This record gives sequence, structure tokens and C-alpha cells, in this order.
Amino acid sequence: MHEDIEKVLIDEDVIKKRLDVLAEKVMTDFEGKPLVVVALLKGALLFMADLLRRIPLTMEIECINVASYHGGTESSGTVTFLDKKLPDVEGRAVLLLDDILDTGGTLQAVMGKLNEQGATEVKTCVLLAKDIPRESFKEADYTGFVIGDEFVVGYGLDYQGRYRNLPYVGILKDSAI
Ligand code: IMP
Ligand code: MG
Repeated sequence: MHEDIEKVLIDEDVIKKRLDVLAEKVMTDFEGKPLVVVALLKGALLFMADLLRRIPLTMEIECINVASYHGGTESSGTVTFLDKKLPDVEGRAVLLLDDILDTGGTLQAVMGKLNEQGATEVKTCVLLAKDIPRESFKEADYTGFVIGDEFVVGYGLDYQGRYRNLPYVGILKDSAI
């Protein structure tokens, strides 16, 4: 375990088993549809790679760069689109991937944009969802794990750009924050 990690919340094997189940569901829902997967960088990187290799459908993969945390451990409430151009999703079904659903501001904003661009449907898929009340965006169409209202890192999730490479989801030691 990494020296800055206090405890592992979800280990690698458990994540991988859950991805098998999510992949099955996605397959059933998207079979036969022109599919674009849109992943939010950088948090969804590991999730995207492990989930999509379990889904043998014809698809295009696109990534969008957004920022919502700006380095702290709480959502800033504003979503900044960092790309000049969004992927072309017109007339296609979109599976939108993110690492974690917190306030829901990020997925709400990105979904709005993709719908504006003419996607026929947008379904959302997150590895983690925090168990908190949300006003605008209640829940994703596919959720890996529901966790408490705590700050986590690993498996794509970062604190100040670090820990994304850890193969598990864990909680940081106070001394690392
Ligand atoms: P939301 O817009 O509040 O739902 O926040 C979603 C974004 O905030 C995610 O894409 C993550 O990048 C980031 N985020 C939320 N909670 C955590 C966390 O516990 N650890 C690391 N990043 C988080
Ligand atoms: Mg993020």
C-alpha cells in the first residue's frame, strides 16, 4: 500500500468484479446503437480502460477535459470546459464516463452540452457515487459503488494531481493533505 494511504476502501479485485457486471448492463442497453463513449479526463482514465475492454461493441472513444475541483478536496461548484472543441456526437448514443458523482455539477453540465450537440441519448456511468443528497443530478444510469461522503483517491481519482495510478480506491492520511 502507498505510504500516504490511511486505508483501502475498495480493492482491485472487487473493482474488477464489479466492472464485469457494469459491462454486461452497458452491452445490453447499447447493442446495435451507434455508440460514442465520452470519458472525462483525467479521473475516468483507469475506469475507462478497464471497463471498455470488457465491452466488445463497436464504439468510438472520445475524452473531454473538464475541471471542477481546482486542487482542493471539495467541489468548487463551477465546471470549466478545457477543450476548444467537443466531440461530434450528433445522431449517436453516448455513454458518459466519470470517476465519481459528488455534487453532480460536472455530469449535469457535460450532459447538457452533449444533448445540445445532438446526441440521441446520453447515459451516465460512474465508478463511485457519494451517498449525499443531490438537487440537480440525482444518480447515474450505472454506478459501480456507493460510498460515504469522504474524499477518496486512487483508480483515477487524485489529490492535487497525485495518486491516480493506485489500483485501488483509498483514503488519504491527514498528514498527506
Ligand atoms: P461533482 O461535479 O461535484 O459531481 O464532482 C465530480 C468531480 O469532482 C469528479 O469528476 C472528480 O474529479 C472530483 N471529485 C469528487 N469527489 C472526489 C473525491 O473524493 N476524490 C477526488 N476527486 C473527487
Ligand atoms: Mg476529476
